[in-house]
Amino acid sequence: MSSSAMDWLRQLLHPEACPARTGSLDSRHAGDVAALHGHGGFARGWEPGECAALLADASVAADGVFTGHASRPAGFVMSRRAADEAEILSIVIAPAHRGNRLAANLMSAHLSRLAGRGVGQVFLEVEEGNIAAERLYRHLGFREVGRRKGYYPKPDGSRTTAVAMRLDLA
Ligand SMILES: CC(C)(COP(=O)(O)OP(=O)(O)OC[C@H]1O[C@@H](n2cnc3c(N)ncnc32)[C@H](O)[C@@H]1OP(=O)(O)O)[C@@H](O)C(=O)NCCC(=O)NCCS
Repeated sequence: MSSSAMDWLRQLLHPEACPARTGSLDSRHAGDVAALHGHGGFARGWEPGECAALLADASVAADGVFTGHASRPAGFVMSRRAADEAEILSIVIAPAHRGNRLAANLMSAHLSRLAGRGVGQVFLEVEEGNIAAERLYRHLGFREVGRRKGYYPKPDGSRTTAVAMRLDLA
């Protein structure tokens, strides 16, 4: 068996053991980002056209995480910059790849990239009770700076609280 076939088999049997790469995304990845966002459990989906516009926006930075030899990302993170601040717009890891520290690696790479471009503070909102996301952000050094009641609309008509968080990079 060739080494690439061995790698493919190893990735299939043990996806958690394969190294992950991160890399910037552009408008060619709009379909992948829209599909991944659809797995995020958010009330409103992102259309591919909307993703293409975001990915082409000079104030937006997007990175993907790729497992094994995959050419399509297993997850993405996107932020928008204004002056020396940035806001995380979304981060999603495909359900089959969760729990393998892909989000932690992806966020670290993205934050390094933002810091390298002179961003000093990063903000985000996370739904209260999203344990995985809250742990991810706290692990990276984000701290709670406020709460917004009734921020997220739910399919049943109710609304839930957003936890606002900030990370100082400078
Ligand atoms: C949040 C999300 C991006 C995390 O991705 P992931 O690759 O599974 O996360 P990691 O494996 O890098 O783990 C990051 C942290 O979350 C914790 N975690 C991951 N899955 C968890 C779960 N199901 N329950 C509790 N904690 C969990 C890990 O233990 C780790 O915490 P630690 O650093 O304190 O050990 C992923 O669950 C996801 O895509 N969720 C849907 C979209 C979403 O909610 N995005 C955030 C919007 S604000």
